[in-house]
Amino acid sequence: MMFYFSSSLAVVSILVAFLLHESNGQLNSTFYSNTCPNVSSIVSGVIQQALQSDPRIGASLIRLHFHDCFVNGCDASILLDNNGTIRSEKDAAPNTNSTRGFNVVDNIKTAVENSCPGVVSCADILAIAAEASVSLAGGPSWSVLLGRRDSRTANQAGANTSIPSPFEGLSSITSKFSAVGLNTNDLVALSGAHTFGRAQCRLFSNRLYNFNGTGNPDPTLNSTYLATLRQTCPQNGSGTALANLDPTTPDSFDSNYFSNLQNNQGLLQSDQELFSTTGSATIAIVNTFSSNRNCLLSKLRSVNDKYG
Ligand code: HEM
Repeated sequence: MMFYFSSSLAVVSILVAFLLHESNGQLNSTFYSNTCPNVSSIVSGVIQQALQSDPRIGASLIRLHFHDCFVNGCDASILLDNNGTIRSEKDAAPNTNSTRGFNVVDNIKTAVENSCPGVVSCADILAIAAEASVSLAGGPSWSVLLGRRDSRTANQAGANTSIPSPFEGLSSITSKFSAVGLNTNDLVALSGAHTFGRAQCRLFSNRLYNFNGTGNPDPTLNSTYLATLRQTCPQNGSGTALANLDPTTPDSFDSNYFSNLQNNQGLLQSDQELFSTTGSATIAIVNTFSSNRNCLLSKLRSVNDKYG
């Protein structure tokens, strides 16, 4: 596995480890080397094309991978539509009117099928698309382990209960990560994917106007950032208006997410709580990922060793 020495690598490496978790040992990076040797460049080419008109699409694609993997593993179940027996995960609360990029996944699948019919699983396409999206956004590259099988069933109830909400407390989110084998370091690192992409006002505007019923904003919000966000999300404005998850470098995959938290510029409650929850172990982890690259690298190596 190729390592680049940066904080953003934390997100990537732990994502890789997390994706390996359910079937560690059976996946390998050469899975399609005889049957579809160009699969990665085909996927990357379609995403590059999509980025021309939608600079957000890479963020949307990596989120699809996350929401797929948290529900019965990385099996592409998130892609299944409603039919007689399937209740689609697309209609689960964390996904409905929120996850996006399905059309680009369809375009990728068409392009892959044109070259290698009936070979590459949709679950692997989502994993490859996540890597390509990070790398095309200026983040690191890594060798994607492949060989996942696609599910024929969806688990909408599982999507509702397993995927964390931005309004949930840190301890509850920690439990949800723990339920899929991810520890607190993994939670902080993976949250760093909020270094790119957007969020709808309805998912954080309580922090701007009436936090926890106080009639006041969230005291952990930087006041300049608060003023900016209030312009983006006026009190009675559209809940679907969008703000950048990373106000500093909105479309780049870098480590600014962690320094934003140190500056009280986390957009979602679930982001800022990683740094602002008194006594939480996550504070030191944010500080580490933001500044101490040596610590980070050794942590990454140990995570990789743990998950193979
Ligand atoms: C820690 C718990 C997490 C919570 C509570 C959470 C919640 C959210 C929410 C509420 C949004 C905005 C959705 C919308 O506006 O419709 C969002 C966006 C996003 N999330 Fe997360 N997330 C979490 C972890 C993750 C992880 C682990 C990843 C990937 C590794 C990730 C990647 C993203 C990306 C890239 C976006 C932007 C998507 C876009 O622009 O389309 N998130 N997340």
